[in-house]
Amino acid sequence: MNGIKFFPKDLQIANKRIVLRVDLNVPLQDGKILDHTRILLIIPFLKELIKRKSKIILISHLGRPKGERERKLSLNPIFEYLKTKIETKIFFYTGNINEEVKAKSLSLKEGEILLLENIRFFKEETENDEKFSKQLSELGEIYINDAFSCSHRKQSSIHKITNFFKNSYGGPLLKKEIDAVNLVIKEKKTPVTCIIGGSKISTKINVISNLIKNVNNIVIVGAMANNFLAHKGYEVGKSLIEKNSEGIIKKIYAEAKRSDCKIIIPEDCKISKSFDGKPQIKENDKISNEEIILDIGPKTIELIKKIIDKSKTVLWNGPAGYFENKDFSVGTNLIAKKISENTNNNSLISILGGGDTIAALNKSELKLSFTHLSTAGGAFLEYLEGKDLPGLSVLK
Ligand code: 3PG
Ligand code: MG
Repeated sequence: MNGIKFFPKDLQIANKRIVLRVDLNVPLQDGKILDHTRILLIIPFLKELIKRKSKIILISHLGRPKGERERKLSLNPIFEYLKTKIETKIFFYTGNINEEVKAKSLSLKEGEILLLENIRFFKEETENDEKFSKQLSELGEIYINDAFSCSHRKQSSIHKITNFFKNSYGGPLLKKEIDAVNLVIKEKKTPVTCIIGGSKISTKINVISNLIKNVNNIVIVGAMANNFLAHKGYEVGKSLIEKNSEGIIKKIYAEAKRSDCKIIIPEDCKISKSFDGKPQIKENDKISNEEIILDIGPKTIELIKKIIDKSKTVLWNGPAGYFENKDFSVGTNLIAKKISENTNNNSLISILGGGDTIAALNKSELKLSFTHLSTAGGAFLEYLEGKDLPGLSVLK
């Protein structure tokens, strides 16, 4: 996608209020940040803006609250962490989007930051509400979207807000992401394999259907694969399953047949009776109704490694198992290791994306290298499909 206006390096920003949309949607557990990648990545640009004496109004979402305040989805832990990383005054605003927050933005001094509480606490955000977008825009003179990973969302702080700014730009992180994905699209070498994990099939159905036309293999792992196993008639016990996914799966197989794309699903798995229970390797037809599928098994890992060896490009989004527990991170780690090895010996172009994928790889503590590691999951896949992302179109 060309024609995006990026933040000009020489723009006069001293004393100007900049509304900066970032992605601070990091994994949290009991208020503890499990992976800091997304936060650490925005810091260099924040420091640059501070040095250049602008005033920064930071906006992000966290999780998917339904337009209501949810204590466990507060950005407070991220605010606390940011304070330890940046030497400037950072204020946290937890009130409504009204005259009060506007006054707060106007009272900022050069180099100071005002972080707004989770923007999805307001239902107007996901509704892309006109009035709300305008109110947000009144917090600054310049708008920058540095959240490629959120740019597939038609939401106020990404989309409609730009209607009310004379100057809206893409930030440096967004630019880096787009440049990397563009390079892969341009230099894509076949066969192309796309590995898709994660849990929700309905949110990825369109992506999968479209990718089928452009790639040679689609490997389904993670909880998403449970739906395919159930479709094949296997007992999947207490595994995570999405209701009414039958139709979706039939559509995927039909599309794959038309486009001559192979769909690969797990051949065996690692199960347990609970998320922290004893792991056990099982054939697909030996799972009992008490058990939960939590990782792919060794046969499947070998199969995927062979497919990677035969591929020239690999795109990967979504872990292969419940990586939060070490016992079930084996599939994800071994796939990552294989992709990294083949990238290193120059036989493979690799792009990995998604918050969970990055968290899983960081947790593994393996030394890995890929052509590009994207912070974006859904946005990355939709961009690959060739879609015009709403948050990017408005920056043109
Ligand atoms: C992500 O983690 O995928 C981005 O932060 C976007 O979040 P969303 O999928 O809830 O819109
Ligand atoms: Mg997402």
